[in-house]
Amino acid sequence: MFETLPAPKMDGIIALMQAYAEDPRADKIDLGVGVYRDAQGRTPVMRAVKAAEARILAEQDSKSYLSLAGDAAFLNAMEGLLLGGAVPSARVAAVGTPGGTSAVRQICDLVAKVRPGTTVWVSAQTWPNHGPLIAAAGLQARPYRYLDADAGALDRDGMFADLGAAQPGEVVLLHGCCHNPTGVDLSPQDWAEVAALLESTGATPFVDMAYQGFGEGLDADAGGLRHLAARLPEVLIAASCSKNFGLYRDRVGIAMAVVPENNRASLATSLAGLSRQSFAFPPDHGGRVVSTILGDPLLRAQWQEELDEMRSRVQTNRRALADALRAATGSDRMGSVAAQQGMFSILPLSEAQVTQLREEHGIYMLWDGRVNMAGLDPSRAGDVARAVAQVMRSA
Ligand SMILES: Cc1ncc(COP(=O)(O)O)c(C=O)c1O
Repeated sequence: MFETLPAPKMDGIIALMQAYAEDPRADKIDLGVGVYRDAQGRTPVMRAVKAAEARILAEQDSKSYLSLAGDAAFLNAMEGLLLGGAVPSARVAAVGTPGGTSAVRQICDLVAKVRPGTTVWVSAQTWPNHGPLIAAAGLQARPYRYLDADAGALDRDGMFADLGAAQPGEVVLLHGCCHNPTGVDLSPQDWAEVAALLESTGATPFVDMAYQGFGEGLDADAGGLRHLAARLPEVLIAASCSKNFGLYRDRVGIAMAVVPENNRASLATSLAGLSRQSFAFPPDHGGRVVSTILGDPLLRAQWQEELDEMRSRVQTNRRALADALRAATGSDRMGSVAAQQGMFSILPLSEAQVTQLREEHGIYMLWDGRVNMAGLDPSRAGDVARAVAQVMRSA
């Protein structure tokens, strides 16, 4: 039966993870996969998570199925975290999903139910799985300009010109705080202007949110999303707890639709129906950890403190790399690395230079020059910067 199965093309990030794991060099540096690392290069279980897990272990008396939507406490806690009361709960339909990635797919499937083949506008620089997720749901990805590579900042004119062409019934995928691989985020003013533009075009925003708390803080990071939800009739959201709760392998996410009140019930049923067609019930353990933490003031404070530590470590690394790049290249061309937010930045490197860094220096990053700042040990910033300067000179 499977003789004719085409050879699968492996996701580039997964292939890079594998190549790094197999590289025997002791001084290799992984700036590739989007996972937080501490100063020792570990991705530890957060203390608040450990405490919540201990409580669940002691108190949980059943692992029987819950509803298709998942645990109500998790859904409510996530609504509070994401939307902060910006809209009444009567406008919010949501289901738990196995991670943020499957929430993206679930939302695409939801859109495909009413608008098969519709266009999903995606920033020109995005994650390699966005396109395949959109295509797998039978939708069409169309790029909009986002990065001004010379300035390391938003190409505002390009973005607004492109999105001005979005039609009613089309979807505009926006990265929540710190999730755009360029490291360039929308400012509150940009979000307000995007909301106004979408209101005038009638296109529907879809926010993929994976790093709430890595930018300026939990509420500030959700400000753009909340503004959209308060202003527009419909907003689609895929959110992940992989990064801000460090629950990567437990697969905790949520697919949410903010809609007019009279549509809420049918949206909730449709989302649950989509779950039934694929994984049926979402994983419970990680979601229960999240609702335990968010529902307990002491655990919540501890979690926020740990999240603040992560944020500040990433900012320290950004400054260390920007300084080292300035010293190694004698120019401020990559100075924007210090000003950007979250774990990611794109260095102005060609694919050939990225390959050279990997092969000759054991420095791993994505083929478009995207680096994960959390993977950097600040004491190796000089090594990275000198290698980058060298491959740039030899180009
Ligand atoms: C496009 C996209 N959205 C969201 C996420 C959130 O991660 P997860 O699926 O692990 O929750 C990821 C993972 O890196 C992703 O690639």
